[in-house]
Amino acid sequence: MQIIKAHKYGGPEVLLREEKARPQARGKQLCIQIMASSVNQSDLHLRRGQNLLCRFKNGIIKPRRMAVPGLEFAGKVHSVGPQVTAFKAGDRVMAYSGAGFGGYAQFQCLNENEVIVKMPENLNYLEAACLPYGALAAWHLIEDLSLKDQKVLICGAAGSVGNYALQLCQNAGAEITVVSRRNNHAWLKKLGAQKCLDYREENFWESPQSYDLIIDAWGQIKAKDAQRVLHPEGQFRTVSKMKSRASQAKLQKLADLIAAGKIQVFLDSVFPWEEVQKAHRKAESGEKAGHIALKISPNWNPKPHYN
Ligand SMILES: NC(=O)c1ccc[n+]([C@@H]2O[C@H](COP(=O)([O-])OP(=O)(O)OC[C@H]3O[C@@H](n4cnc5c(N)ncnc54)[C@H](OP(=O)(O)O)[C@@H]3O)[C@@H](O)[C@H]2O)c1
Repeated sequence: MQIIKAHKYGGPEVLLREEKARPQARGKQLCIQIMASSVNQSDLHLRRGQNLLCRFKNGIIKPRRMAVPGLEFAGKVHSVGPQVTAFKAGDRVMAYSGAGFGGYAQFQCLNENEVIVKMPENLNYLEAACLPYGALAAWHLIEDLSLKDQKVLICGAAGSVGNYALQLCQNAGAEITVVSRRNNHAWLKKLGAQKCLDYREENFWESPQSYDLIIDAWGQIKAKDAQRVLHPEGQFRTVSKMKSRASQAKLQKLADLIAAGKIQVFLDSVFPWEEVQKAHRKAESGEKAGHIALKISPNWNPKPHYN
């Protein structure tokens, strides 16, 4: 099978194709033929070897383990291990492999108890590959809160985490203000934002508004800034301080919300995986609204490397 691997830390050009033996499903494992994955901030961090913690985990000088990006993917169950009970060959599934990454590959094995569920009928593979990471993070940010009629400010609402945070808050009956570039405002209003602010045009930390909840889906808001427009009893939640608590049960709840038409997946763009470097450049440009999907081709004509 073919995989895409970061051969060293650096720009999109370090992502190269490679041949590897197809994994075999054993015990409780499913072998999934991957049809689509996505490009997320975590994939960019992995590829760049962005910080010391990341290098400590993945290799100080060059990436060793986890060098195949793609922490979420969708595909078809190709084969199952002898102890698998909940899935069968042919099932359409979506998965979050989290810190294990591995979605930029034609096949991947996961244990049936990991964060993997059957896809809702109303999603295609590209959409399903763009749900788990952002929606699970958004869910973690608000799962314990009661948001009916609460005034919520969402920073980074057009991003992979932010657009799901917006949809979940809208379902919960919150009164929502979003922060995003102006060209995203019409789309975010359709998703349920009552008011839209552009971070390039105004300093909203100076405004007389006060919010019950501030969600930082961008990951770089300072708590001391948020406090200035936060109700004294209000809460500040940020993706940067969040420990992932992804589970199969939570992903199933999100799949049920998709099936019920309560949340949707918004694709900004789709790239064939031969153009993975271009897809990463697009993600780095910041010029996106929603998700970047990567189509993993089963009929790929293998070449040793990108030029
Ligand atoms: N801890 C965890 O488990 C976890 C899980 C998921 C994500 N994360 C982190 O969450 C962060 C966001 O991830 P993502 O995948 O959603 O990223 P993304 O899709 O690239 O979205 C980032 C958003 O940030 C917004 N933004 C950029 N500059 C801004 C500014 N100056 N002020 C306000 N907003 C600004 C952008 O808004 P515009 O599009 O309007 O420019 C964009 O929509 C990353 O740091 C990621 O590592 C953490």
